[in-house]
Amino acid sequence: ARTIALIPAAGMGKRMGAGSNKQYLMLDGMPILARTVRTFEEADCIDAIYLISPEQEIPFCRSDVVERYGFTKVRAIVPGGQERQHSVYNGLRAIEGIEPDDIVLIHDGVRPFVSVQMLEDAAAAARESGASVVAVPVKDTVKVVQEGLVTATPPRETLWLAQTPQGFRYGLIRAAHEQAAAAGFLGTDDASLLEWQGQPVRVVQGDYRNIKITTPEDMILAEAFLKETAK
Ligand code: CTP
Ligand code: MG
Repeated sequence: ARTIALIPAAGMGKRMGAGSNKQYLMLDGMPILARTVRTFEEADCIDAIYLISPEQEIPFCRSDVVERYGFTKVRAIVPGGQERQHSVYNGLRAIEGIEPDDIVLIHDGVRPFVSVQMLEDAAAAARESGASVVAVPVKDTVKVVQEGLVTATPPRETLWLAQTPQGFRYGLIRAAHEQAAAAGFLGTDDASLLEWQGQPVRVVQGDYRNIKITTPEDMILAEAFLKETAK
């Protein structure tokens, strides 16, 4: 079975407030999205890559990411949708010649610290169990708060922070997206669509460095992580 990467990068980066889309912000001279794609390009376990971009940015994505860095596995740049889930659904429908038992790894374009090991682990767990999510245990105590009052403190051992990649057998994730679209269900990640269907999702150990670059302070963290690995 093949392993296909789907990389959504069609958001507007509102929480970053950078004026331009955060996926093209530079980290040590290289756009965040290009750093992300590079890991998939270099991983032997990845057969093909599909990028998802805002429609009007597809030419820029092609010239300044795919051509500029000579990525050979990128098969298409697919236009995104209103919400991340719509973008991923567009991507799932654009993959050519894929079989139900092939594996799709879905990964945020703005998580440049993903490792080849995480790709291999997420793909292997998806092949075995149907679906997988890379995650790390929470470090802080989490409170459930309603109208300014704490209503619960869930036991910390049960709480994990979901990251990407998330891996799936293509048939399962395609059906989950179709049914979610038909029912108007919007999840915050892809694994939640399988959970909503009652399907098992296997957890794979992630890395605290595998952050999603979301707000300005995440750029400071990202630069610090790069300095650490450059030593
Ligand atoms: N994404 C997407 N299509 C959307 C929204 C998000 O492909 N309609 C992608 C983003 O480009 C990003 C990933 O999903 O790579 C995670 O989303 P998030 O961190 O929320 O990015 P943005 O939506 O761009 O940021 P914000 O929510 O702050 O506007
Ligand atoms: Mg968003």
